[in-house]
Amino acid sequence: MSEYNLMVGLGDRSYPIFIEDGLMENIGIDLAKREIASHYVVISDDHVASLYGPTLMAILEKAGIAAELLTFPHGEASKNLQVFAQLSSRLAQLGLDRKSGLIALGGGVTGDLTGFLAATYMRGIPFVQVPTTLLSQVDSSVGGKTGVDIPEGKNLVGAFYQPKAVYIDTAVLTTLPVEELLGGIAEVIKYGVIYDFEFYCFLESNLDAILALQPSVIQEMIHICCRIKAEVVAADEREADLRRILNFGHTIGHAVEAASDFSLIHGHAVAIGMVAALRLAVLLGLCKRKEAGRVATLIHSFGLPTEIPADMDRNVIKSYIKSDKKAVAGSVFYVLPTTIGKVIISNEVTETEINSVLQR
Ligand code: GLY
Repeated sequence: MSEYNLMVGLGDRSYPIFIEDGLMENIGIDLAKREIASHYVVISDDHVASLYGPTLMAILEKAGIAAELLTFPHGEASKNLQVFAQLSSRLAQLGLDRKSGLIALGGGVTGDLTGFLAATYMRGIPFVQVPTTLLSQVDSSVGGKTGVDIPEGKNLVGAFYQPKAVYIDTAVLTTLPVEELLGGIAEVIKYGVIYDFEFYCFLESNLDAILALQPSVIQEMIHICCRIKAEVVAADEREADLRRILNFGHTIGHAVEAASDFSLIHGHAVAIGMVAALRLAVLLGLCKRKEAGRVATLIHSFGLPTEIPADMDRNVIKSYIKSDKKAVAGSVFYVLPTTIGKVIISNEVTETEINSVLQR
């Protein structure tokens, strides 16, 4: 049993998160022991399926677990209602019933899509997450947000639906493109800034080991991120209050991502958004300039962007900020650090203040 394992405490919907280098080998035995479902369908995109599909299927077979593999084309463009409908039909054609379970093998798109299928197929069947990107390991596989995109916006159709278990094999990060790894690092830094100064210092001290994917450092890092996410989700599963702190860097970040026509990777846009939110906090007199500078330096040292691309139309960014789907009654919320490790949420930022931060 790995020292990095932990639980998400949600009463009778509580579930374990297993974190271990090389964990994939043990998934079959563990699933057989847990008796979550009588048989499984593994859902994965074509890219991840070609890397890990045969391995996971062999591991399940060896443990005596009946399973099929379904794939869909990789990329955010697949996270839609058409692919959702096709996969639903395939589940029905395979004869899945309420005793069946799903296994999401992949990144955020696969986890969100599979979770939403699990939430809706026959009004809900169990599923487990096997996240294969850093971003999905530290964020999207934990907490039960599932769903698909529609032309009007990302994640606009979905459900809160918790997995039965999350299996994080940190060894799979070795096949992750470096840009994707960095995208995940942005969310990792986010946890330090919003919640845990000690963890933030850990990231500063272990930068080289993290980039070199040193197993014990990576496992500890992912464990701490999942521990923070588990605490936040246990306190506020449906994002009425505390969970909103996880959106640090996302209000401006999402707008920059959308203004780039999604050519910017999500985590890179979040990095830019975090620096912008820190500058906003300094402008509002909430945070010391030195602390904001310290975070921007760390983001930059990891190789992530800190500035909004110079040629990006500021008015387009502003229009995306105004249509932020997390706005309530037209009022946009910003997560603003007061120091490294603590944030407040404000909906009192003026247009002039936003202009000032975007114009730098
Ligand atoms: N990714 C933000 C959340 O799960 O609430």
